[in-house]
Amino acid sequence: MQNFDYQTPTRLIFGEGVISSLPDVMGEFGHNVLLTYGGGSIKKLGLYDKVKELLADFAIFELPGIQPNPKFNPSVIDGVRICKEHDIDVILAVGGGSVLDCSKAIAGGALYDGDLWELISNNVETTAALPIVDIITLAATGSEYDNDGVISRTETNDKFSYMNDHLFPAVSFLDPTYTFSVPKRQTAAGCVDAINHTMEQYFVEDSTLLNDGFCESMIKSLIVNGKKCLDNPEDYTARAEMMLCCTYGCNGILALGNSESGWPCHGIEHALSGHYDIVHGEGLAIITPRWMRHILNEHTLPRFVKYGVNVFGIDASLPPYEIAEHAIDETYRFFESLGVPMHLRDVGIDDSRLAEMAHHIAVNEGLEDAYAPLSEQDILEILQASL
Ligand code: NZQ
Ligand code: ZN
Repeated sequence: MQNFDYQTPTRLIFGEGVISSLPDVMGEFGHNVLLTYGGGSIKKLGLYDKVKELLADFAIFELPGIQPNPKFNPSVIDGVRICKEHDIDVILAVGGGSVLDCSKAIAGGALYDGDLWELISNNVETTAALPIVDIITLAATGSEYDNDGVISRTETNDKFSYMNDHLFPAVSFLDPTYTFSVPKRQTAAGCVDAINHTMEQYFVEDSTLLNDGFCESMIKSLIVNGKKCLDNPEDYTARAEMMLCCTYGCNGILALGNSESGWPCHGIEHALSGHYDIVHGEGLAIITPRWMRHILNEHTLPRFVKYGVNVFGIDASLPPYEIAEHAIDETYRFFESLGVPMHLRDVGIDDSRLAEMAHHIAVNEGLEDAYAPLSEQDILEILQASL
């Protein structure tokens, strides 16, 4: 078991109706609020009006229009400018992971006076950030409980994880009823995303029985509840359990004491959405089974066997390679059953830029050090197999 130093400072407030305590919570951080949101889903939900009503005594400035795969230019730049101009005390992010990720970048940038992209690309260390409160409306990324904000810079096709412990949200409100309106496409992509977050921490060299059990339960719960959410979008219990599974995805709690995995599927997918602006969970659904097949060998086999037997209930007495292949097929079939695209072609990606992306990934993601090391050639083969 590896040493670790772990702290998650985020307060989670979970359940139907919990935003009634929003004014008290926000009051702890100050008066001037930057309200950030996306393309309008929170208005359709009635959440925008509710927040304005609850915060009638605060000074609210707004940054609307944050896109999926949030963009450095204009959203992060505009948000930082508003914070500096209006002496913002706290950011309230209302929406999906993209809104919250963008808000994290704004929170760091607001207290920094140098070149903003140097900060976001982690070339300069973040030493302070504005506090963030969020109301998350889409179960997927786990951004509500982690220190990461994934930001795209269109002109260079970069999509970077801006990571720092100052970026943990101070408070996250999780009301599963706000996810009832999430469309099927995003619900499915969120389910795949959270399953892959778990797999990225399961396929490692050293792990504990405790973490393996935690990860296997997470994936089993996401398989059952993801399907239920698609079949009945207003199933509170299913939405609630899926939401909590997603929240656990990225803050490290699933892998305390494990060795590093390198998060290879995310390294590859971020380049896909950096170059083609695709839906993150859809990119992961396409890459994950091809990555699994690519890394299956004598060394990785025991992990595949454990995954296949404990997650999908495959007969443990079968030959190990048969179990592993079966487990990969089951993973593929489950993603397919959610209705997500399973080929790069289906999301508008042909073979013209695969070599360029493989190079970009090899240079920027350090996957030579992953649990199953990936060279540029390996990455290219995974991309080609995904076409
Ligand atoms: O923009 P609006 O109108 O709000 O619509 C959004 C958006 O179009 C819509 N939506 C959100 N909540 C809704 C809703 N529609 C109806 N009802 C609701 N309640 O859903 C669309 C997608 O939203 P987005 O925030 O982009 O989705 P998600 O939460 O999946 O976030 C994806 C982003 O997070 C990054 C991804 O790379 C991607 O950029 N990730 C962040 C991570 C983190 N911070 O730890 C880890 C992940 O691995 C991931 O990389
Ligand atoms: Zn993800």
